[in-house]
Amino acid sequence: MPLREYATFFRQFRQRFETTGAIAPSSRFLASAMAHPLKQRAGDAPVRVLEIGPGTGAVTRTLVKHIREGDRFDLVELNEAFAEMLNARFDNEPAWKRVREQSEVHVVPIQEFAAEEPYDFVISGLPLNNFPTALVDEIFEAYFRLLKPGGVLSYFEYQFVRSIRTRIGKSEDRKRLTTIDSTMKSYTDRLRFRRDWIFVNLPPAWVQHLRADERSSADSAPTVGETHA
Ligand SMILES: C[S@@+](CC[C@H](N)C(=O)[O-])C[C@H]1O[C@@H](n2cnc3c(N)ncnc32)[C@H](O)[C@@H]1O
Repeated sequence: MPLREYATFFRQFRQRFETTGAIAPSSRFLASAMAHPLKQRAGDAPVRVLEIGPGTGAVTRTLVKHIREGDRFDLVELNEAFAEMLNARFDNEPAWKRVREQSEVHVVPIQEFAAEEPYDFVISGLPLNNFPTALVDEIFEAYFRLLKPGGVLSYFEYQFVRSIRTRIGKSEDRKRLTTIDSTMKSYTDRLRFRRDWIFVNLPPAWVQHLRADERSSADSAPTVGETHA
């Protein structure tokens, strides 16, 4: 990964800690797990793909390899400095240039993004543990509003961060993280069909994969599978 990518990421981490949420871009192992459902797509029909919080493009770099002719690829990133870097990569790097015409970077918070049509795959790198509880609710509603029934949401979270911080954090923070934990659990309990353990990442992460049902409200949770990297 070019040094410039790390430098931009670290600068944004220092300037906008709450929304950047990590000290370094994701590893290629984490990126590969995030792209897994797209890689495994069934059939030849074109699909719609949405990446949320792409940052410097650590996950995007893997996603672009799996975008085929006829697919649509939208990226929603609220930080203009990251959006500028992503657009430069679409203009200059061969694997990105190949899908330039079918891709667009939208500089807007995801909770305000209005899509023309729902998506088959939503891939999110948002640092939800840093957010107020009401915003986490709003973002999960947005994820499922933006997904087609049967569509797949993949997102990562750093391993055990919530369970540690709900024990040793400040009281206000503990309450906030406990609420975030139950919000996430209400979705993962019903809709998760796979979880990947990624140890080669700073910090180690889980990738959660959820499948939307008709209203994302029926009891359609498929079997949980786990892999380790
Ligand atoms: C932890 S970084 C992940 C970056 C990249 N996906 C990776 O894995 O290295 C989180 C990213 O989400 C973006 N972000 C935070 N809140 C957002 C929001 N409400 N809407 C869209 N993007 C957001 C940040 O600007 C940042 O680029």
